[in-house]
Amino acid sequence: MEGFEKVAQLSDIAAGKLIVVDAQGESIVITELAGNVIAFSNVCSHEDCDFVFEGQGSLEGNEITCDCHDSRFNVLDGSVMNPPATDPIIIYAVQIDGNDVLVGPR
Ligand code: FES
Repeated sequence: MEGFEKVAQLSDIAAGKLIVVDAQGESIVITELAGNVIAFSNVCSHEDCDFVFEGQGSLEGNEITCDCHDSRFNVLDGSVMNPPATDPIIIYAVQIDGNDVLVGPR
C-alpha cells in the first residue's frame, strides 16, 4: 500500500458524515457514499474555499456544492458541473485494512 496514509477508523465513517483529514499534503474529505468510503479534495478549484468546515458541507448524492460561489463537483470523478469553477477537484483512492481507512493517490 505504498503512498497510502492511515487517516481514520472505519467505525468513524458514516453516510452523511463529512470528516476532514490532512493527508497527501492536502485537506481531504472522507465520507461514505452508497456503501463505499470515498475521499476527495476539500479545496475548491475556483478560489480554494473549503467545501467542509467544522463538519458542515453541502453534499447531496454524489455532488458537493462550494458555498463560496456555488460551483458543484462530482465527488466520484472530480468533474466540475457548473461555473465559476472550470477545473476538476482531486479524487483520492481509499483502501480499508481492518478498521483502518487509508488514503492514497489515484
Ligand atoms: S471558491 Fe468554490 S466556487 Fe468559488
